[in-house]
Parts: sequence; structure tokens; C-alpha cells
Amino acid sequence: MDDPIGQAARQIEESRKGVPQIRAFFDDATNTVSYVVHDPETRRTAIIDSVLDYDAAAGRITYTSADAILAYVGEQQLTVEWLLETHAHADHLSAAPYLQERLGGKLAIGKAILTVQETFGKLFNEGTAFARDGSQFDHLFEDGDRFMIGNLAATVLHVPGHTPADLAYVIGDAAFIGDTLFMPDYGTARADFPGGDARTLFRSIRRLLTLPAETRLFLCHDYRAPDRDDYRWETTVAEQRASNVHVHDGIDEDGFVAMREARDATLDMPKLILPSIQVNMRGGHLPEPEGNGTRYLKIPLDAL
Ligand SMILES: [Fe+2]
Repeated sequence: MDDPIGQAARQIEESRKGVPQIRAFFDDATNTVSYVVHDPETRRTAIIDSVLDYDAAAGRITYTSADAILAYVGEQQLTVEWLLETHAHADHLSAAPYLQERLGGKLAIGKAILTVQETFGKLFNEGTAFARDGSQFDHLFEDGDRFMIGNLAATVLHVPGHTPADLAYVIGDAAFIGDTLFMPDYGTARADFPGGDARTLFRSIRRLLTLPAETRLFLCHDYRAPDRDDYRWETTVAEQRASNVHVHDGIDEDGFVAMREARDATLDMPKLILPSIQVNMRGGHLPEPEGNGTRYLKIPLDAL
């Protein structure tokens, strides 16, 4: 059996006829891009990295972003088979359970979510009621796994570094690469969360950059480079190799690690990291209500 990158590369070469239809939804509040990806022949669909709106000051959850996806799926008459997470996000709560309840489909993430559950289960001092076995998800993917969305072939690549559990989903000729690369003028994802590692991130990125040059890459975030005034989230392997400010061809591993670690040391924690991780380590499910019927999130002090 050949290696997962080889499989993914061949899938991209072969997928000229099965090009997925892709609709992006950009969330201004968290700079996150969610995707609805469907096979035009069968209208079978995957939703990737959906966002639940969360007002931290009020502790209030709303559904405007998720409802926009629901409306699109309805208009387009799509059948949702998968709710895919690229990783346990630290900057927004996932809307996957809300969408799954209304649309069906299987909720999936990478197998290394178990490591994330272990780390953050401890941080939040969760009791035994919080299972650290990934059972909050319907499916846990490993590197090289393959699946179908209608007639579209999909290959899973494990691309850790930002977190231990990051996945990229190669679907037809497109790759949804989570928090690895950002737009070429902005660079790469941070690697300083618990379980993150800059050297691992570099190796994952170099692996992604061995995909065919024309592969369409879809990003999880855009923060706009200083001299750009629009948000963008689509690029190609060729563009990244030629001009990504952090990892273009010619930048070596040690140089990248030194740059990434120095830059990460200057970054604040994302505003929603504590609510996000607490919910997303549960597959986007909220903590159980207490005796008075209210759900609570915990804020550990001096722990991050
Ligand atoms: Fe992230």
C-alpha cells in the first residue's frame, strides 16, 4: 500500500471530472471559514468546521452562522453525510451538533483528539463523566483513511503541529487544510497551544506542499495581511511554495522553528480559548446542565 500523500496526490490527478462544489462561510467575529462541500452529481455533502456564535460577555449562544449554513443546505437540496472538524478549535465553538440534529450526518475528527481530551480533561479537572475516548464523535480518522462523499473521493491526512489532532481533508482536487498554512502573505498557524509544536507543524506543512502544484487549498482562517483589505481563504500548493512568507521553498526547518517560536511568544491567547476547548473537546456538545437547569462553563485561573 502506498503512502497517504501518494494516494491523495493520485486522487487529485484523477479527480478532474469529480470537482466538488464549495461554498465558504466567513465568520467576522472569529475570522473562521466554514465550508459546505458537495458532489454535484449526487448532492452528497460534507460540512467542515462550522461555527456557533458565542457572546463571551453575556455567556450567550446564538445560531446566526449555523442557520446560514442550514439555509444554504436547504436551498441547494443537499444531503449531509459528514460533519468534519479539522481539529478541536481554540477560537470558536463548533456548531456541528446543532447542524447534525437538523441535517443528520456523521461527526468526525482525528483520532489524536484522545490526546487533546486527556490534556484538557486534566486542565478543566473533569470527572469520569467526561470520556477521553473520542466517543462524543461518530468517527475518528487516522492518517491515510479514505472515504466517499457521493462520487467524490476523500483522503485524510494527519497534519499535527498546531494541535496534536489536526487533519487535512483532501476532497476531489481540493484540500481543506485546517490550521497549518494561512494565505501566502500571512504565513502559518501558531504552534504554542498545549500539545502544539513548531517543528511538527513544519513537517506537516512540507508534507502538504508535496501535493500536486495545482491543488486548491482552503484555509480555516484569514486575518488579512497588513497591506490587504479583503479576506481570502483559497490558494494553491504552487502559490504557497513560491511565496508563503513563513514556509516558501528554501526556508529550512530550524529557521522556521526559530521564527514560529519567537512569533508565538508575542501572541495573546485567543479570546474564546477556554469556552471553545471546553465545548469542542466534547465534540461541540455543551456541558450537562446543573441541578437548576443551567449549563456552565468553567474558567481555570492561571492555568494557561
Ligand atoms: Fe485552530
